[in-house]
Amino acid sequence: MSTVDTSSWTRAFSQRALNQGAAELATILAGSPPGVLSVSGGFPSPATFPTEVLDEIVAGLLRDDPGVALQYAPSEGIPSVREYLIERQEQLQGRRPEKDELIVTSGGMECITLAGLALLDPGDAVVVEAPTYLGALMAFAGFEAPVTGIPMDEDGLQVDVLEARLADGLRPKLIYLIPEFQNPTGRTLTLERRQALIELCRRHGVLILEDVAYREMSFDGGALPSLWSLGPDVVVQAGTFSKIFCPGVRLGWAVGPADVIAQMAAAKQTGDQCASALAQRIVEQYGRAGHFERQVPQSRALYERGWRAVEGALHEHMPPGVAWSEPSGGFFTWLTLPDGLDASELRPAALEAGVNYVPGRPFYPGDEGAAELRVSFSYLSEDELGEAVKRLAGVIA
Ligand SMILES: Cc1ncc(COP(=O)(O)O)c(C=O)c1O
Repeated sequence: MSTVDTSSWTRAFSQRALNQGAAELATILAGSPPGVLSVSGGFPSPATFPTEVLDEIVAGLLRDDPGVALQYAPSEGIPSVREYLIERQEQLQGRRPEKDELIVTSGGMECITLAGLALLDPGDAVVVEAPTYLGALMAFAGFEAPVTGIPMDEDGLQVDVLEARLADGLRPKLIYLIPEFQNPTGRTLTLERRQALIELCRRHGVLILEDVAYREMSFDGGALPSLWSLGPDVVVQAGTFSKIFCPGVRLGWAVGPADVIAQMAAAKQTGDQCASALAQRIVEQYGRAGHFERQVPQSRALYERGWRAVEGALHEHMPPGVAWSEPSGGFFTWLTLPDGLDASELRPAALEAGVNYVPGRPFYPGDEGAAELRVSFSYLSEDELGEAVKRLAGVIA
């Protein structure tokens, strides 16, 4: 009797899994060798984690509310937590969602997956900013969605280019974008373009998936109107507490048209069923006690200091021909190298010199981005950031 080779199961992997190509994101999340300064991940600084407050909140929940905090929760979220998030949405974005317009999720990445599960059949087109968040590109690839990238400039997505593509017959199910301090470019979509985009999507009946992961991390505390507040009829907003609180708590929200939100909640039932009840109650208690209002301004100031350290070192050390974006918030700046240089090919030399970054190409749905790379300023100290940029400049020079 012949036996089947059981030494490797890759032959059994689904087409979906093969399409996804998770290698780049896994590399970022895996960290860097000792001695290497990493400006690669979008990790918040551990200095922003409110451990003492959390110690008290968690102890209190386990003592006073274990029947809720340690139990299954409704897929849409615990009612008091949804109520808190509805109030927060009104306070920060000037529009109060109806109860059936908001659900609690296990973070921002899950919102993207739930939107895909709710909306995308294989072959359904998706539009993204080029470049965009790698995790979203991987998710859309997993849904077998052909992805079209629309170019950006300093003012964000070029809405007129999108308009021309739609006029030419492009029919996306979904337009995914990150309007504030975008990952990976650090750029922000202007108000004029926000209004034009909403109008365009209304005219063509296209749904926008707005990812607000970095929205509250502006250096000056200000914020433009969210796309969802401008067009609640055509926008699903994916929100997360990962960047303003702690990614380990894994909590976020989705808000949008009630029928889409209900379908996303239904999709959640075959995933994790519900976001962690403990995490939900932690965020609710933390928020209701006013801790976001205390912590977020401190975090913003920390990240602004990180950016200023990077900015100073870029000006001091980068050779001529290197350009960078000038973020007014968030975690990232985007570097463009002189023609002919390839950021992927430079990476081994950079690691040798003791600095790690993410090359630009994986952030594009197409084959662009060879001469671009992302630098994050959220995790290292100011001195380390300065040194990392100096090392990077040496490799490029
Ligand atoms: C733009 C963007 N969206 C979503 C996420 C994922 O966030 P979460 O931890 O909430 O899943 C990230 C994380 O880096 C991100 O940069």
